[in-house]
Amino acid sequence: MNRSIRIAPSILAADFMRLGEQVKECEKAGADMIHCDVMDGHFVPNLTFGPPLIAQLHKTTKLPLDVHLMIEAPERSLDAYFKAGANAITVHQETCPHLHRTLSYIRSLGIQAGVSVNPSTPVEMLEPVLGSFDILLIMTVNPGFGGQTFLQSMLPKILQADSWRKEGVAEFSIAVDGGIDPLTTPLVVESGADLLIAGTSVFDGSIGDNIKRLREAAC
Ligand code: DX5
Ligand code: ZN
Repeated sequence: MNRSIRIAPSILAADFMRLGEQVKECEKAGADMIHCDVMDGHFVPNLTFGPPLIAQLHKTTKLPLDVHLMIEAPERSLDAYFKAGANAITVHQETCPHLHRTLSYIRSLGIQAGVSVNPSTPVEMLEPVLGSFDILLIMTVNPGFGGQTFLQSMLPKILQADSWRKEGVAEFSIAVDGGIDPLTTPLVVESGADLLIAGTSVFDGSIGDNIKRLREAAC
């Protein structure tokens, strides 16, 4: 496998009482980004954290912060997450009636723009905005919780996204989020994913060993 695969631990599965320490362990183990799941209790049934925690993480780690906004009306919060130190902000297609405007605004801040699709949203919904984002995040579980079972039926979406890249239509990273572990990694990597977001499989047990196992599974 020549393509470079990046690993982004999702802190949703971290021990929040030892968050700084665990993020440092991720850094030491060669993680490429820290994935931060922001949930509002409306778009998804769970509630997590907001800009103050991102600002704390920004002070704690040199790793880029990848902020995944699972919130309604994300355009209202983009400045706050940017100021807190986000290096990439991903919004959901389902929450953005003016998706092109929102993605363009994120890029205008000088950071990476990402767009995510829920399992029930066809990836073709993004065809009109190809070229306007840096990360296409394919949800491989229904968003809201960690520790769910990977949905194998999402693999054709990854293949479709990769075929857009191969045709030269646009350049972007293909991220996958939900149920990513050493068993599912080969499936998504073979289909074209190159940014692996993983919560449970990184933070359950030894972070160093877990990241190593994911990296090996991606080869
Ligand atoms: C789910 C989140 C994921 C979550 C993945 O809504 O977007 O980032 O942390 O957790 P695992 O890897 O446990 O499925
Ligand atoms: Zn996520």
